[in-house]
Amino acid sequence: MDFEQEKLPLHVAIIMDGNGRWATQRDLPRIEGHIAGIESVREAVTATREIGIPYLTLYAFSKENWSRPKEEVQGLLHLLELYLLKELPMMMEHEIRFMAIGALEDLPKKLQVMLDDVMEKTKRHKALTLNIALSYSGRQEILHAVRSVLRDMKAGRIKRIDERVFARYLYTAAMPDPDLLIRTSGEMRLSNFLLWQMAYTEIYVTETLWPDFRREAYEEALMEFTRRERRFGSLKEY
Ligand code: IPE
Ligand code: IPE
Ligand code: MG
Repeated sequence: MDFEQEKLPLHVAIIMDGNGRWATQRDLPRIEGHIAGIESVREAVTATREIGIPYLTLYAFSKENWSRPKEEVQGLLHLLELYLLKELPMMMEHEIRFMAIGALEDLPKKLQVMLDDVMEKTKRHKALTLNIALSYSGRQEILHAVRSVLRDMKAGRIKRIDERVFARYLYTAAMPDPDLLIRTSGEMRLSNFLLWQMAYTEIYVTETLWPDFRREAYEEALMEFTRRERRFGSLKEY
């Protein structure tokens, strides 16, 4: 698709939802939906890189998802390990900086080590920052930031707090806020994702289930975004 480059988002966030429904529709175990969803992750990353959007944040596992059955949680974490092993060469080749965001200390130690390794190896890349949200909760992120602010105030490292200063304490410090949020599979809610950062984000919800959300569907979402009128509370000319 041909996009008007200056109208494209700088930062796309995606709630990758509907893997379970995709599997259930096919009489398959839920994990098969997660496996099929990995291909959609690959396509989203490749397309974002090729189109030239510099930030992509994917919601892969929420803090609340820990309450799912143990087998599903373990299956998801295992798939993430496989993804990291398989995709590191691609990230090296295409200059992609990988960042895991969330309460990473909740994750199994082995996975934490793998995440640190991929972050370290890709940290100088500039073409695309790929954030993967793991054990992520928007409210927890805000509380974590508040605690760090209090600590730094006490220590005299900062004197005053405003929106800009506060944003530096979030996992997304130094990144632009998402311009576009895509949620697949039709649910009209944020599910505790990037609560601070999405104050003025454009929301795009599609009925398509995540494993079916491939490049064409992604480009359709981007195209729709380029047609949106953003106001940020002010009046624009009609
Ligand atoms: C999204 O798919 C993936 C994760 C939350 C990890 P779901 O597993 O939520 O799929 P549905 O919503 O049950 O269809
Ligand atoms: C949101 O999806 C979390 C991820 C996509 C990782 P959920 O399926 O967990 O959200 P709810 O339960 O429908 O709100
Ligand atoms: Mg879901």
